[in-house]
Amino acid sequence: MSILITGGAGYIGSHTLVELSQFNYDFIVYDNLSNSSQESLKRVEKIIGKSITFINGDIRDSEKLKEVFSNYTIDSVIHFAGLKAVGQSVEQPLEYYDNNVVGTLRLLEVMKEFACKKIVFSSSATVYSEVDAKNYTPLTESNPVGGTTNPYGTSKYMIERILEDLYISDNSFKIAILRYFNPVGAHESGTIGEDPNGIPNNLMPFISQVAVGKREYLSVFGSDYDTHDGTGVRDYIHVVDLSIAHVKAIEYLGTDALASAIGETKVSLPKINPLIVNIGTGVGYSVLDVVKAFEKASGKEVLYRLVDRRAGDIAKCYANPSYAKEVLGWEATKTLEQMCEDSWRWQSNNPNGYNCDK
Ligand code: NAD
Ligand code: UFG
Repeated sequence: MSILITGGAGYIGSHTLVELSQFNYDFIVYDNLSNSSQESLKRVEKIIGKSITFINGDIRDSEKLKEVFSNYTIDSVIHFAGLKAVGQSVEQPLEYYDNNVVGTLRLLEVMKEFACKKIVFSSSATVYSEVDAKNYTPLTESNPVGGTTNPYGTSKYMIERILEDLYISDNSFKIAILRYFNPVGAHESGTIGEDPNGIPNNLMPFISQVAVGKREYLSVFGSDYDTHDGTGVRDYIHVVDLSIAHVKAIEYLGTDALASAIGETKVSLPKINPLIVNIGTGVGYSVLDVVKAFEKASGKEVLYRLVDRRAGDIAKCYANPSYAKEVLGWEATKTLEQMCEDSWRWQSNNPNGYNCDK
């Protein structure tokens, strides 16, 4: 029995493989390598000390998926595969809906055909409707959703609805929807991490590249927000904490993919289905807080310039993560300092990411 990990060669997927392995789960990786390389899997193999079954395939390719479900006994799916760049999704909406929404539909159809009915889905805090910063409270799972402002966010919202409707039609499906806040950091080995293509859109990879000398300075988007220092506040979550949340979610759904009983930490709580849960720390840090913490962790100066707000950004976004603790027995443990130290170890050991020729 194995867990199928779609998008398992990517940033969050590769870290989740390490944690699944620690808890003795069997898994198979299915990825089209559109935003990753097999090098990440080779590095994970080194960390976990065993080889990984990898299938190079696209989630929109039903025939290939059927082949995988025929050749292996798949107990459950952790579904990371998808495109994730907000700005690019505005330029290429059809590609984003095709890849994310149509891809998920194809995957769910094949899962249903093969009676594989457990899925953990990578959703995002971006599904929450825009929040009025003045009346801001941390986001709980019951906050309004769907007021999305870009095709990426809308694709996540649509998939959440599809999963909920699927459950209504067939309540033998067991579904966990994880709404991630801002994943950052890297495995403490410094051998796997986030490897964005081209100029990073997100804060932590951009800061890392300034610190390592690949970029001259950070543009801080907006310094007149209603926050403690005027810069945007987010809930940064260490990717290893986030990965552990997936292990908890798979335990919650009840899986038969354990290689043996070693490491089994099943929780026995009343089951909510579909489970929709925030994965964040509950603590908000500003852009300048992160810059300062990164400088301390790296010992490097991070030059920055205050510039205009970025279109579509909000002042503050952070989670109320108490539900995750209640239902999954999960909470974040890693600090901003650790997030910066681990990001820096990865960046400084691998200035060109996985590709030495970049
Ligand atoms: P990533 O790009 O590093 O990983 C995604 C993986 O999916 C890549 O390896 C890519 O090659 C693969 N993939 C893409 N389309 C595919 C397809 N059609 N078929 C097969 N494989 C495909 O991204 P990540 O940061 O690891 O994100 C993982 C998931 O989490 C994504 O669904 C993303 O939208 C979601 N998410 C990410 C963030 C974030 O800030 N990183 C925040 C919220 C949600
Ligand atoms: N920022 C800068 N300069 C940069 C990059 C970012 O000042 O070069 C600021 C932003 O304005 C924001 C904060 O840093 O205030 C964080 O920005 P990110 O781009 O790192 O993250 P976002 O909160 O905008 O969005 C991220 C992902 C989305 C996801 C969302 C919630 O990009 O896909 O978190 O999970 F939906």
